[in-house]
Amino acid sequence: MKLLPTITLLTLNAALLLASSEVIKEEKLEQIVKTGDASAKVLLKTLGSNLEKHMKSGGVMGAFNFCADEAYPLTEGVNKGLEKGVSVKRISLKYRNPANAPKADEIAVLESLNAMKASNTLPAYIVKQTDDKTFKYYKPLVIEKEACLKCHGKIMKDSELGKALGARYPLDTAINYEMNDLRGAVVVTITK
Ligand code: HEC
Repeated sequence: MKLLPTITLLTLNAALLLASSEVIKEEKLEQIVKTGDASAKVLLKTLGSNLEKHMKSGGVMGAFNFCADEAYPLTEGVNKGLEKGVSVKRISLKYRNPANAPKADEIAVLESLNAMKASNTLPAYIVKQTDDKTFKYYKPLVIEKEACLKCHGKIMKDSELGKALGARYPLDTAINYEMNDLRGAVVVTITK
C-alpha cells in the first residue's frame, strides 16, 4: 500500500491508501471524499438521534431493543435515500451483529486504523480503491461518549442487559471497550 502525496493538499489529517497503481485525479478524489463524508454523516446522525431518543424514553433496555431491531433496517433505509452507486454501512473487528462483519479488504483497513490509533495518528478518513470503478471511504469510529459504554463497555452477564445480549447475540464481541477506543468504521462504497 502506498500513500499518495496529493492527499496532503486536501487535508493533513487524512491518509490515502491505494490498491491499484492508478493515480486518482484530484477532483475525483475530492468528489469521493465529499460523498463519503456526507453519506457517513447521514447514517451517524440517523442512528445517533434515534439512539438518544430511545435512551430518553426507554432507558438502556429500550435503547438496546431499538439498536437490535432497528439499527440495521434504518441503515438500509439510509441507503435507499443515497444517490445511485453509493452505499453506507458500519463495520468492526469486534462486531455484535454478524451482518456488520468486515470483508477481507476491510479487515486490512481496520487493522491499519487500529495501528494508527495506537500511535496517535488516526486520520479523519481513508480512501481505498478496490477496482476500476469502486472506492471505499472509511471514517473511523472512536468511542467518545460514555453512553456508548452502556452497551459496549463492561457488562455483567447476569444483568438485564447482559442476559438480553447473550440471548440475542450469543457470539457478541462488541463489549469491554473503553473511552477513546477505536470501535470500528463507517464504510461508504462508491461505484462510479
Ligand atoms: C443501548 C445499547 C447501545 C448503545 C448505547 C450503543 N450501542 Fe452500538 N450497538 C448496539 C447493538 C444492539 C448493536 C447491533 C446493531 C445492529 O444490528 O447493527 C450495535 C452495533 C454497533 C456498531 C456496528 C458494529 C457491530 O458491532 O455490530 C457500532 C460501530 C456501534 N454499535 C457503535 C456504537 C457507538 C459509537 C455508540 C455510542 C455513540 C454505541 N454504539 C452505543 C447497542 C448499543
